[in-house]
Formats: sequence, C-alpha cells, structure tokens
Amino acid sequence: MKVNELKISYIEKSHEELSYSEKKLLDEATAAAKKAYAPYSKFRVGAAVLLGNGEVLSGCNQENAAFPSGLCAERVTVFYANAKYPDVAVDTLLITVLDENGDYRGEPVPPCGACRQVLSETETRQGKPMRILLVGKSKVHEFSSVSDLLPFIFSGNELL
Ligand code: THU
Repeated sequence: MKVNELKISYIEKSHEELSYSEKKLLDEATAAAKKAYAPYSKFRVGAAVLLGNGEVLSGCNQENAAFPSGLCAERVTVFYANAKYPDVAVDTLLITVLDENGDYRGEPVPPCGACRQVLSETETRQGKPMRILLVGKSKVHEFSSVSDLLPFIFSGNELL
C-alpha cells in the first residue's frame, strides 16, 4: 500500500491586481449577475468568458420552481459560448456572486461539481487549458486549469 499525494497550486490576489482584460471580464460577470433569475435562492451568480477570438460573453444562473430544471451561471455561459462558437476555445472563465444588496460576496465561490464536470470536458474538447478566476469581495482565486479544480475527472473514456 502507498499514499499518493496531489499538489494543487492557485494564485490569490486582490481586485487591484487584476489585469485590464480581467477587469473587463469582472465588469461583464457583475453585470450578468445583476440579471440572474434567482428568485428562490437569491444567490446571484455571474460568469464571463474570454474566448480565443477575443470576444467576451457572459451569463447568469437561471432558476425554476422545479428546482433541478434551473442551470448554474457557469454552464449557461460556457454552453452559450460553445453553441455560438463550437471551435473557439474558452481562454478564461471568471465567476462572481452578488449578495442581496448587490455587493460582492465575501469569499470567492467555487463552481459546483456538475459545473466542474462540464468545464473539464470543455477543456479536454478544446485541447487547451481554461483559466478560472473566482472573484470574492476582496480576494481573487486564480486556477490555471480546470484540472486543478477537478483532478479526477470522469472523462468518458471509461465508457469505451
Ligand atoms: N449556482 C451557480 O450558478 N453556480 C454554482 O457553481 C453554484 C450554484 C447557482 C444555482 C442556483 O441558482 C443558486 O446558485 C443556488 O445554488
């Protein structure tokens, strides 16, 4: 028997340390979060992607009275990008959450497991790492690849 260890590193930085294009993504994700349809949870999530063609697209969570029928902001946004440009890679995905007063939530909020699974397959599909930025009130967590958020992915190869 042996114990294997996995090391994951990520960057922690402030809003002031965001680059110009990262700030633009944050502005877009914040604007999207304000449009979230979240009457049940009041948890308003905004996401924005920077695509390989330079375009920025955004999305927000969409809830439904039949709870499982809703969709997270990350999947809304990445599915939208892949539907619009199936052959263009998602270079960066930024996620942020607003509270009921419209302020950034304290801690950066990581994507749920189902979103990680989808993001992971998108990363495999595009053959390029997708950078993830999670933006909280004063802190930003930056992961250089989805595989750092979901190291042991169910890739589908198991089905073959
Ligand atoms: N939500 C997201 O949009 N992204 C996540 O990664 C976590 C959860 C949404 C789903 C639901 O509308 C609300 O937040 C509460 O779970």
